[in-house]
Amino acid sequence: MTKPQLLIDTDPGVDDALAILMAHAHADVAGLSIAAGNVGLGHTVRNARTLVDLLDAATPIFAGCATPLVRAPEEDAAFVHGQDGFGDVGFASPRAMPADEPAALALLRLTRERPGELTLVALAPLTNLALALRIDPSLPERVARLVIMGGAVTGHGNTGKVPAEFNIGFDPEAAHVVFEAFPQFELVDWEATLRHAFDDAEFEDWLKAGDQRAKFYDSIVGTARAYNLTHGRQGVIAADALAMAVAIDPSIVTRREKRAVSVELDGRLTRGATVVDWAGRLGRPINADIVLEVDQARFAAMVRRALGVVV
Ligand code: RIB
Ligand code: CA
Repeated sequence: MTKPQLLIDTDPGVDDALAILMAHAHADVAGLSIAAGNVGLGHTVRNARTLVDLLDAATPIFAGCATPLVRAPEEDAAFVHGQDGFGDVGFASPRAMPADEPAALALLRLTRERPGELTLVALAPLTNLALALRIDPSLPERVARLVIMGGAVTGHGNTGKVPAEFNIGFDPEAAHVVFEAFPQFELVDWEATLRHAFDDAEFEDWLKAGDQRAKFYDSIVGTARAYNLTHGRQGVIAADALAMAVAIDPSIVTRREKRAVSVELDGRLTRGATVVDWAGRLGRPINADIVLEVDQARFAAMVRRALGVVV
């Protein structure tokens, strides 16, 4: 069976790093387009370079937008990922260099060169994808699958706006553009992420048994785990890793619902919320294939392999 062919938009970010390790362990990666989000674009680009060095990969890196499409973000996620996005470990300056091509143009070029081949995996605020769509609205026709980590389908979000999840809440206008432009996308939300957290002790065992990738991940994950522990979150939570697992092997999905999903842009208390028409009352196009559950054992096996754990 041929390996999945992935094009990844990401804001590394600790859980983005695990997802990118998974992508390189299980698939072919056409490129990393980098967004601002967890931390500023300078950090997220540098972190992508650090990952490409660690993997000794030839994966091209494309820097994207430094800000959301319209309104300045209300918060980043440095309180989870560290000021530099990688646990403030202080890695040496990476060797891998970003390409000159902006992310939005790279997304368009790579899908033109390989129409229908690439699965687009969106692990960050959707600014780069939205810009690409504004430049070339035919982008969805050339994308085999779009898998988005984002949203909170019953309003249990993780930002200062209770129902909003970070990737959507950071750039709601971009998410609106993407949700309206793609006739179908797979949505892996924050609530599914929490249901698929890993047991702490088990994850510790993986980090001890793994190779240099495990040691790297162990060095950057501390701030995120400390935050989760002190904020009532159970286990090792890896939103982007779950979305990446679905992108690599959609057969691990065991429960899903297709519904019309929209993004709230104006609510004083709800801006950035993903609004799901669960009862189908509005008659809007059913754009989202919402992932509700995956096979946890197969998800765990994919993560272990990405960390170099010999099972
Ligand atoms: O809400 C989780 C998402 O926001 C993940 O992509 C994480 O990396 C952060 O960007
Ligand atoms: Ca991310």
